[in-house]
Amino acid sequence: MESKIWAIGGGKGGTGKTFVTSSLGTFLARQGKKVIIIDADLGGANLHSFVKQKRPKYSLTDFFTNKIPLHQVIEKTQISNLELAAGDIHSFDYKSINRGQKLRFFNHIRKLDCDYILLDLGAGSNLNVIDTFLLADNKVVVILPEVTSEENLYQFLKKVFSRKINLILHKHRLKDENTELQEKEKSGQITGIVGKIEYLKSMSFEIEKKVEEELAGFKISLILNQVRSEGQIKRGFTVRNLITEYFGIETKYSGYIKYNENFWRFVNQAQPLSQTAEFNPTFTEVSAITGNILENKQLTFTNMSHG
Ligand SMILES: Nc1ncnc2c1ncn2[C@@H]1O[C@H](COP(=O)(O)OP(=O)(O)OP(=O)(O)O)[C@@H](O)[C@H]1O
Ligand SMILES: [Mg+2]
Repeated sequence: MESKIWAIGGGKGGTGKTFVTSSLGTFLARQGKKVIIIDADLGGANLHSFVKQKRPKYSLTDFFTNKIPLHQVIEKTQISNLELAAGDIHSFDYKSINRGQKLRFFNHIRKLDCDYILLDLGAGSNLNVIDTFLLADNKVVVILPEVTSEENLYQFLKKVFSRKINLILHKHRLKDENTELQEKEKSGQITGIVGKIEYLKSMSFEIEKKVEEELAGFKISLILNQVRSEGQIKRGFTVRNLITEYFGIETKYSGYIKYNENFWRFVNQAQPLSQTAEFNPTFTEVSAITGNILENKQLTFTNMSHG
């Protein structure tokens, strides 16, 4: 069976994408699943330090530019069942990786002998990040309970869906339709992502079918990190509703992780954070989130106070 690919992104820097990638990966590995975490934040790579690996000999840069096979880039970690493909701190022009290379990369990783592949995306929303996010089976976003983080998420998702629409138009050779869509948009007759999708679908029954097929199963999993109050936890429901409303795409509020004041202590320790007693309360939250993502469920008001 092919492995499932999860991408962890969300636009803003420092929300906890790398921490979430390593935590979800560790949790799945502890459940006996074979997991590979991949640092796709080329240029700002630090996933290896969250699992306390020394910078490995090869990185993804070697895969893309030096033709080093992927299995040589992947190495074991201190956590059993968990393997890592590290990124590269050296400034690497990720933009130079074209879509074809990325598709080949996804075909490659899908065939790796494991159950789950978790991709830690960098901050920002350049085309590379967007395309990698779009290719994943599970699209996970991590935000902080702050307005700026939410705004960044909406901008990120706007780019995600605009890109998706463009890819659909391109794939199905809908050139004239694309021109019509652009004109309608320019003249203000259609607005927003929902407007665009609806207009496209109204063009013909055939197009409607294609668009629906392309968007079937497309969903976003939302994680709120570093929350400090019940009010902040509840905010996740609002963000979820806003995403669904703006983009017309199913969004699941997979859960939250409270701010854990012990984390900073472990930055310079040799032991992975997830192996310490201080991680236990967070572990419960990570467990709930992973369970929700796997079962396509979400947080509800009634189970809000777990952990
Ligand atoms: N729940 C939490 N409680 C306390 N500290 C946290 C929590 N989550 C993350 N942090 C801390 O916040 C910092 C940023 O986390 P992380 O590196 O995972 O963010 P990121 O989104 O990957 O950042 P970047 O966009 O730079 O890649 C780290 O020092 C991490 O230990
Ligand atoms: Mg990171």
